[in-house]
Amino acid sequence: MKQIHLSELNVSSFSLFNYQWCLIGVAKNKVNAMTASWGSIGTLWNRPIATIYVRPSRYTHQLLESDSHFTLSFFSQQHRPVLNYLGSISGRERDKLKECGIPYHIDKGALYFDDAELIIKCKKIMTQPLDEKKIDEDIKRKMYPNGDIHTMIIGEVEEVWIKEK
Ligand SMILES: Cc1cc2nc3c(=O)[nH]c(=O)nc-3n(C[C@H](O)[C@H](O)[C@H](O)COP(=O)(O)O)c2cc1C
Repeated sequence: MKQIHLSELNVSSFSLFNYQWCLIGVAKNKVNAMTASWGSIGTLWNRPIATIYVRPSRYTHQLLESDSHFTLSFFSQQHRPVLNYLGSISGRERDKLKECGIPYHIDKGALYFDDAELIIKCKKIMTQPLDEKKIDEDIKRKMYPNGDIHTMIIGEVEEVWIKEK
């Protein structure tokens, strides 16, 4: 992978999350990753940021609480089965990364997936549980029949890596 400057990154926030999906990776206390398709990249407080939404029931949510950094790894379509797997099994009781054999390495407490097309490393700068009272009623009915309302986590983009062609 090679590191690029943010200005060289030419992607759509919509297709990145909704169509390509990603792995949210953490590595401080325990190495774990979960699939995510809700999120965005943009600008806040004059900083480049990525926003993700994680339900409190996810093990990754627990790990993110004490981790200062996370990575977002985006893959080609051929990795869909692995992303489906990591998005349906919890790492709470199992070493799911080892089980699926996805190659990765850890550098300065951050998790990098070696086969990713794009990796965005973020420093956590805000964590905010979504306010149930302020969510549209129709969305609340559909998305939160059992509560477990997402926490919004905003990370400042510190590094961008792309796969070398
Ligand atoms: C395509 C896809 C997208 C997902 N997007 C999210 C998401 O944005 N936020 C979330 O909390 N869970 C999302 N999930 C569910 C988690 O990935 C799943 O619950 C995972 O097993 C949690 O793992 P963990 O307990 O090891 O953290 C998604 C799952 C799939 C398959």
